[in-house]
Amino acid sequence: MNSIVSTAGGRIDLHLHVLPGLDDGARDDDAALEMLRGLQDAGFSRVVATPHADDARYTYGPERIEAARAALEARAREAGLTIDVGRGAEYAYGARFHDELAARRLMTIDGSRYVLLELPETFMPAAMPNVLFEVGAAGYYPIVAHPERCQPFHDDLDRLLALTTGRALIQVSFRSLAGTFGRTIKKTAWALLEGGHADLVATDCHSPRELPKIVRPVLAELESRLPPRRLQQLLSATPNRLIAAA
Ligand SMILES: [Fe+2]
Repeated sequence: MNSIVSTAGGRIDLHLHVLPGLDDGARDDDAALEMLRGLQDAGFSRVVATPHADDARYTYGPERIEAARAALEARAREAGLTIDVGRGAEYAYGARFHDELAARRLMTIDGSRYVLLELPETFMPAAMPNVLFEVGAAGYYPIVAHPERCQPFHDDLDRLLALTTGRALIQVSFRSLAGTFGRTIKKTAWALLEGGHADLVATDCHSPRELPKIVRPVLAELESRLPPRRLQQLLSATPNRLIAAA
């Protein structure tokens, strides 16, 4: 397990695509370093790389992820950056997720019990409450990635809360807050945050271009719209607590 002692108290991004060559995130090492530099400048002391783990699009393997993480962190140190790089995966709801769950070998956030899961965006399977229950029964705890992007929850946040309360944490994404996916998703994301329903907020950053376009503007907006203590909880206290439980 990684040492997290040095990051205690800093901002932690628990969801981004910074490992080159594993998914649709950072294109190469230089892009990855630029992302890390930008996030460090924005006050982050640790990021947890969460490459897509779905059924078809990307090659997935915990060993590959760990090797890429270690290589990137070493390059970051050579470049004089102090930001730490942790490892995880962003599972799509599907066959691979079920297989890894059944085998009790889901790749968790920094070796904790927390596992990042994205739900289908256009429909909500009737079995979803049972699936989240099974994840818990297997000893994991789900973090639902950007549920604001799921159509069934638009204008019906109670449905999301009924699904997740006691079973999963809610993580809102900077990209949704910036309006990347349109007005409805943006509105839902801010409603989750300002209504006090979100447990976490994460960049889901895919490219250095998103630093000036998304990360910095959303941070500024978060600072102006949320009480400082709430923002500290979302970006620092809660993620520190989750990975400290590793
Ligand atoms: Fe993501």
